[in-house]
Amino acid sequence: MRTDVGALKGRRVLVAASGSIAAVKTPLLVSGLVQAGAEVRCLLTPSAEQLVSPVAMATLSRHRCYRDQDQWDPSRSRPLHIELAEWAELMVVAPLSATTLGRWSQGLADGLLASTLLACERPVLAAVAMNTAMWRHPAVQANWESLQRLPGVIPLSPTAGLLACDRLGDGRMADPLQIELAVAALFSRQEAELSVDRSWSGRRLLVSAGPTLEAIDAARLISNRSSGRMGVLLAQVARLRGADVELVHGPLQVPQAWLEGLDCEPVESAEQMQQALHRRQDQASALAMVAAVADLRRSDGGLPSKPPKSGLPQLFEQGWEPMPDLLRGLVDRRPAGQRILGFAALTGADHDLLMRGGQKRAGKGCDLLMVNPIDRAGEGFGENQASGWLLGDGLQQRVPLKSKLAVAHHLLDALGELLKTTTSC
Ligand code: CTP
Repeated sequence: MRTDVGALKGRRVLVAASGSIAAVKTPLLVSGLVQAGAEVRCLLTPSAEQLVSPVAMATLSRHRCYRDQDQWDPSRSRPLHIELAEWAELMVVAPLSATTLGRWSQGLADGLLASTLLACERPVLAAVAMNTAMWRHPAVQANWESLQRLPGVIPLSPTAGLLACDRLGDGRMADPLQIELAVAALFSRQEAELSVDRSWSGRRLLVSAGPTLEAIDAARLISNRSSGRMGVLLAQVARLRGADVELVHGPLQVPQAWLEGLDCEPVESAEQMQQALHRRQDQASALAMVAAVADLRRSDGGLPSKPPKSGLPQLFEQGWEPMPDLLRGLVDRRPAGQRILGFAALTGADHDLLMRGGQKRAGKGCDLLMVNPIDRAGEGFGENQASGWLLGDGLQQRVPLKSKLAVAHHLLDALGELLKTTTSC
């Protein structure tokens, strides 16, 4: 599944791999970025070359792959590490090994990658990977912490799982799809020059996403077309901008890799979603209710048996109740200072959307409501793009059609502004 083709078209990305076995996955990242339209250059350290072929990197990036022996070339009028650092709009180091992390954080410039990193004045995405014991070593942790204080560095912490050394624990490199998503999110800011925005640092965002499932009987259920894409992308963009993010979600139709780095709680029914959100609400600075909650449920919670289809008309005629409004309840019980964003998936003409959106926001009491049409080609449920209106107190802002990643930035900017006016959170 492609992330956001528009955001990467023609953008210049320098992908570097250092010596960790995770380098075998770097060609997948290069291939994904190229397919999304980015211009990619590759660089391998001598250790990475032991693990992944420069020929693979050159073929997938459609350009020669640079190595240490290329650094001091008498046929070049300028040093290669300066040229590469100035060429790139964004650098991605994936994997970042303990050695390269150490060199970079200590300001050492031996080798092509180390010197390019010091020469680079553009943002650098750093996806670390190593054995769990190495990762937990205090010296490595100290280097990782000092790296995060450097301007322009966007850290992608390792995830937990089975490592190539057979250890089960932290140390896996972020999935190539997750890295590609982060690259696309950075380029979705729609500003002339790429910059690192950590404006959500120190804030906790609670997001709900996806549909809920309500049991009719032992086999059948009621749900809706929500894929969860908008909610997951909002959560990931907030994480990249420094937030701690919790995601309570129904069944999703997005790559599993897009959930990395989020504190996820999968649920099925609206009642389970409500319980999870209530349990987590008090710690959150802001809440984004992106989930498409089912509108009806059976008052008996769903039959334990499966009646034959001849009994269905009768089953649909009685025993149903409207779903309580989770968002309204969350607004009523929110802690002081918490800001809440709701979504409204609507159909119809713009003036209708605005009128019904305004009524909805008043009824639900949320600070912001993103009203988005779901009956227009290429936007809405499961699509890459969205548009609509952002409504708030004295606010009626047109959100033009753009990628959901760009919409996520837009909404986080608006929510962030409201949080600035909050005293106790
Ligand atoms: N929502 C909720 N609980 C519900 C229904 C909706 O919390 N039972 C939230 C959604 O997460 C979303 C917002 O309310 O943030 C608006 O959802 P929408 O489906 O547009 O609203 P409904 O209240 O269900 O209105 P409608 O009658 O148009 O279906």
